[in-house]
Amino acid sequence: MSAEERKAIRADKPFAFSEETERKFQQLLTRYPKDQKKSLNLPCLWLAQRQEGWVSAEAMEYIAERLEIPVTDVYEVATFYTMYHLHPIGKYHIQLCRTLSCELRGKEEILKHISKKLGIKPGQTTADGRFTLSQVECLAACGGGPMMQLNDDYHENLTPERVDQILDQLP
Ligand code: FES
Repeated sequence: MSAEERKAIRADKPFAFSEETERKFQQLLTRYPKDQKKSLNLPCLWLAQRQEGWVSAEAMEYIAERLEIPVTDVYEVATFYTMYHLHPIGKYHIQLCRTLSCELRGKEEILKHISKKLGIKPGQTTADGRFTLSQVECLAACGGGPMMQLNDDYHENLTPERVDQILDQLP
């Protein structure tokens, strides 16, 4: 990752694990040999994302320090896996599957419906910060296509009406 790319993902505020995240980190530490802290790279990125909603450059630097590994090791992992968000996203993250089974079973209609309903295209976040829409590859629920993951939950056999029900009842 270049210096410019790193600059683009800076939150411009310090990062540290919260008390709750620190507790989870300490629990994870007990599962690995003391000289293998680097194995916690992925879980730490996940903890940081759970805490802040995304993983900033500051969070990566903090993780590198806590795990006593080069920050480039953390950048490499964070930029390789698409599950890590390197920019802030909405409170609700809609990940719509665009792979074959879902595509054949009507993904496009669902995409058009969500885009129209929320006024955003894939890769965008609503102005109020509530929703981010993404298209993703197979989420291994092919028998229930078209499907989406909404934060941690799967919703299958979607229809425009079902999408309305799901999104309209969110707090
Ligand atoms: S093709 Fe959509 S979940 Fe597998």
